[in-house]
Amino acid sequence: MSSNSNHCPDSLGLELASRVKVAFYSGTGGAERIARCFAEQLAVHGCIVDLERISHGGAHQDSLAACELLVLVTVVHDFNTPHQVQLWLENSDAAPSLRAAVFSVSGGGEAITNRANRQAAIRILEAKGATVIYDDTIPMPCNYFFRIQHPLDAMELEAYPLIVKKRTASILAGEQRRSRPGPVDHLVTWLSRNAWRRGARFGQAIKVAEDCAGCGLCARGCPAGNISMGPETTAHPDDNPTTDTSAAGTAAAVSVKPVFADRCVLCLRCLYACPNQALSPGREKFAVLQDGYALDEIASRHPTPDDWQNLESLAKGWLYAGIRRYLQEARDLLEV
Ligand SMILES: Cc1cc2nc3c(=O)[nH]c(=O)nc-3n(C[C@H](O)[C@H](O)[C@H](O)COP(=O)(O)O)c2cc1C
Repeated sequence: MSSNSNHCPDSLGLELASRVKVAFYSGTGGAERIARCFAEQLAVHGCIVDLERISHGGAHQDSLAACELLVLVTVVHDFNTPHQVQLWLENSDAAPSLRAAVFSVSGGGEAITNRANRQAAIRILEAKGATVIYDDTIPMPCNYFFRIQHPLDAMELEAYPLIVKKRTASILAGEQRRSRPGPVDHLVTWLSRNAWRRGARFGQAIKVAEDCAGCGLCARGCPAGNISMGPETTAHPDDNPTTDTSAAGTAAAVSVKPVFADRCVLCLRCLYACPNQALSPGREKFAVLQDGYALDEIASRHPTPDDWQNLESLAKGWLYAGIRRYLQEARDLLEV
């Protein structure tokens, strides 16, 4: 089936104007880009698409009630489906006829230790009677622990629209694809199942530097609603309490700064998005990328045809196995 045709194909049992929910959970924007791309592609095929950001507060119970197909796009945290996504799925009412495609967006791609990360989401959906027809990983530049070097990072950003277009066509054509994680994957995911709990301590240890302008970008973007802007009172430098103890003499400068509650989900969005780099981690400093993380900046550095030809030497070794396979598939679509 051509990906430009303007109707949802029969093979999935979907009619023209079938209702599709694209639900996404994203910290630093990678999963959001993928989700928006799925939404565009599904609309090209004539589906009525409802795009929903999964954030704090959980799902409305009827989030999934009216849709025939769910495309779930979620970041991978600690080899797992993030806890917030699990809560969202648990709270939603899914019709037993619901079909679901589950995509994880990860730094490491579909490689050993990383392959069971969608299982929690799949288990919850299946327990609700939904049929999971497709599951896969889409790698994006890693925002935690290690940086995917240029030009591999830019190649990932050039690759995903092609891969999403191909996956959309294949899902609507009724193709099924289910991954089979091995015992090591299951073990690693199981051992990391409670790692999300450390987010509370991580968030409360975030340091706010003097450079903070109090703009509130961090608070507005936090997917956990964990940041509020509160007044910070600092003694005025001209104050001299020994000579003047009146109210006027003890005047203080009041500025607005972020205050972190205990619901941090360790997505790193606030740290990387601050325009003044005024936020820094008080814990896990080794895992936060020192030079920041900005997808727009990565996307502006385009890979060359030579970069694509040299893919195998750029992405050597087991650490890159998942990313290499994924980019090889994209290279075939690019025909470079
Ligand atoms: C706390 C944390 C844990 C992560 N764990 C994994 C992991 O287990 N496997 C992996 O491939 N990537 C992992 N990542 C990397 C992200 O999945 C990856 O960078 C993703 O593209 C981020 O998506 P986002 O921009 O939508 O937040 C982790 C990132 C964070 C912040």
